[in-house]
Amino acid sequence: MSIPITTARRLIELACHAPSAHNTQPWLWQIDGDEIRLYADRRRHLPLEDPDGRNLTISCGAALHHLQFAARALGWVSDVTLLPSAAEPNLLAVVRLERGEPSPQPVNDLAALRRRCTDRRRFTSWPVPPEVLDRLAEEAREWDVRATPVVDLVARFRLELLTSDASALRELDEEAVQEQALWVNRGGSEGVPLAVLPNSEAADVLERPGRFGPGLVPETRAPVDGGDGVIVLGGVADDPIGWLRTGAGLSALWLRATRDGLSVVPLSLPVEVEATRAQMTEKVLEGAFVPHLAVRIGWQAIGRTGLPRTPRRGLDDVLIA
Ligand SMILES: Cc1cc2nc3c(=O)[nH]c(=O)nc-3n(C[C@H](O)[C@H](O)[C@H](O)COP(=O)(O)O)c2cc1C
Repeated sequence: MSIPITTARRLIELACHAPSAHNTQPWLWQIDGDEIRLYADRRRHLPLEDPDGRNLTISCGAALHHLQFAARALGWVSDVTLLPSAAEPNLLAVVRLERGEPSPQPVNDLAALRRRCTDRRRFTSWPVPPEVLDRLAEEAREWDVRATPVVDLVARFRLELLTSDASALRELDEEAVQEQALWVNRGGSEGVPLAVLPNSEAADVLERPGRFGPGLVPETRAPVDGGDGVIVLGGVADDPIGWLRTGAGLSALWLRATRDGLSVVPLSLPVEVEATRAQMTEKVLEGAFVPHLAVRIGWQAIGRTGLPRTPRRGLDDVLIA
């Protein structure tokens, strides 16, 4: 049975709420009968920051998981084939949909999907209990991802140092910094608007146009703060299939955290910079797996005002006829 076109369009609209590096939204979709195909949109790739396309592919993996999550909420079961054709590397996934049971709390699930956002304001000092971090890591692992909370004090200290090193190395790479700056305050339906960067006077951000200063916003001051929960996501290799899975795990973890009232902020810098990525495997993960992305997790103060939403491209801009 073909999925109704209105349903397919609705699912894609919901999938596009997914997080993406610099809000590049590097995805294209095609509806064909009971199939939805996901393609990488390489025109939205940052070749200096992300030469291998890791962040781009993780972003697409997150959108794919958002699609599956929305489909489940609306009573559709999805059967996904990742990277179905070696001859077509931009075709990242084919999703076949069949009627099934809606998730137990579809309204809450869809509300969480719409509410999820990157809130870079400083977390409160309440620590995230280890069992909460374990539960979130478990949520990611359901998607065939390696996910490890970094709780050991030495490992955390090393991660903080590597993040500072990565930040210093990135700042020396003027061309990469300029490439990132193109995605801040871009206007229109893409990029990171100044309004979502806390305490960031326009002049301040524009003076330090990298990824909002050292991978962070001024309010957070240190790359990784003492009370922040940290989870590293990755796989057995640094390859596209692993990145897609990491994207799915990131999305699953983030939607669970949103439903539990926690805030998640990705920290990709120490993985992006080659020198620190190698050291992360060795010094933070003790060789257990290859890192694809770290995330910080914490509580925002109760009663904080909501953030404006980052914009999204219109459905017609992401659909291939
Ligand atoms: C692969 C990936 C890497 C990201 N890296 C960072 C990062 O290092 N720092 C940061 O503040 N946000 C990072 N983000 C968050 C994006 O900037 C954010 O998802 C995007 O601007 C859309 O905003 P939203 O999450 O509020 O919808 C990353 C997101 C993804 C998917």
